[in-house]
Amino acid sequence: DTIGKVISCKAAVAWEPKKPLTIETIEVAPPRAGEVRIKILATGVCHTDAYTLDGHDPEGAFPVVLGHEGGGIVESVGEGVTSVAPGDHVIPLYTPQCYDCKFCRNPKTNLCQRIRSTQGQGVMPDGTKRFTCKGKELFHFMGCSTFSEYTVCAEISVSKVDPQAPLDKVCLLGCGISTGYGAALNTAKVSEGSICAVWGLGAVGLAVIMGCKAAGASQIYGVDINPAKFETARQFGATDFINPKDYPDKTIQEVVMSLTDGGFDYTFECIGSVHTMRAALECCHKGWGESTIIGVAAAGQEISTRPFQLVTGRVWRGSAFGGWKSRDAVPKLVDEYMNKKLKVDEFVTFTLPLGQINDAFEYMHTGKSIRSVIVF
Ligand code: APR
Ligand code: ZN
Repeated sequence: DTIGKVISCKAAVAWEPKKPLTIETIEVAPPRAGEVRIKILATGVCHTDAYTLDGHDPEGAFPVVLGHEGGGIVESVGEGVTSVAPGDHVIPLYTPQCYDCKFCRNPKTNLCQRIRSTQGQGVMPDGTKRFTCKGKELFHFMGCSTFSEYTVCAEISVSKVDPQAPLDKVCLLGCGISTGYGAALNTAKVSEGSICAVWGLGAVGLAVIMGCKAAGASQIYGVDINPAKFETARQFGATDFINPKDYPDKTIQEVVMSLTDGGFDYTFECIGSVHTMRAALECCHKGWGESTIIGVAAAGQEISTRPFQLVTGRVWRGSAFGGWKSRDAVPKLVDEYMNKKLKVDEFVTFTLPLGQINDAFEYMHTGKSIRSVIVF
């Protein structure tokens, strides 16, 4: 029985920026009031983990337990926790849902702000940490820290899901898949019969394609500089492809105008480059085309276009976590997967033990993986 006790377990620790993670034995303190301790069974590895590990995140604090695409089982709960109990299967949420803040009460947004500042600082809502290793405290990450056999999250950052669902697959609903799928359905609200285009055919882009298809798009273009991505994108519902490198003398805007009747109804940027963000906007149809930014650009970057683009009816949007109000939506997305409405297995390129987590980062950087899932 571990309830109320410190747990020693394995974790991948990032001691400093730009260094590989090392597998350590860490101590995980019991959950305090309003917190949940979770035995993590699986976690995806995502770009935001790499971004922080590479030292690009201005908020990033070290040493830290990274990871935010996890799935696990509740081990114990702190005082006052009512929404989950030991034994529940859960997915940690980097976008929480408190049901109470101004943002949670507004149907137009999913950006709960209740614990925003402490989460950004890498500490629990009471300002303290639950992890130690070799006598040092470790920071938390995105309210999740899933690169550990045990973690502690705020109750408002935990969604209870169907215990039948395989956690080594549905953990990916904690970030990339939900983000792309929701951007098409909630943010862009893609309409039936429309022509869509998706820049970047990684996990996020594939999930956008899945959302566009679910919404009844008649054509879905995939845009990527790596043509090896096209076949998988076709399996997700893409119908046409553009490799900008095939047109060295033309801008993508010129290419799109020559291939279509005035541009796309909806475009999505799933790369994180301000150049492709501009291109995706300017490839929208005059009068009604809408472009949604999903990719995360480097800190300090700025987007630009001629205001004429907007004056003549194009719309520029963005969304985080697919616009889903997280605790309400993630259990439903898991159900959609169980009912075979939503693909998830197809996103998992590699399943690796914790000891090979640095390989997962390499597969992501070299484009070899859609996603790698670490199993504990
Ligand atoms: N033009 C077209 N495609 C590009 C370009 C470009 N200039 N640069 C990169 N790509 C393609 C890559 O070839 C790759 O297929 O974009 C794709 C990105 O996919 P992944 O690296 O697998 O990224 P993913 O996990 O889908 O995340 C995409 O969303 O979460 C954010 O920070 C993340 O910004 C990243 C984005
Ligand atoms: Zn809230």
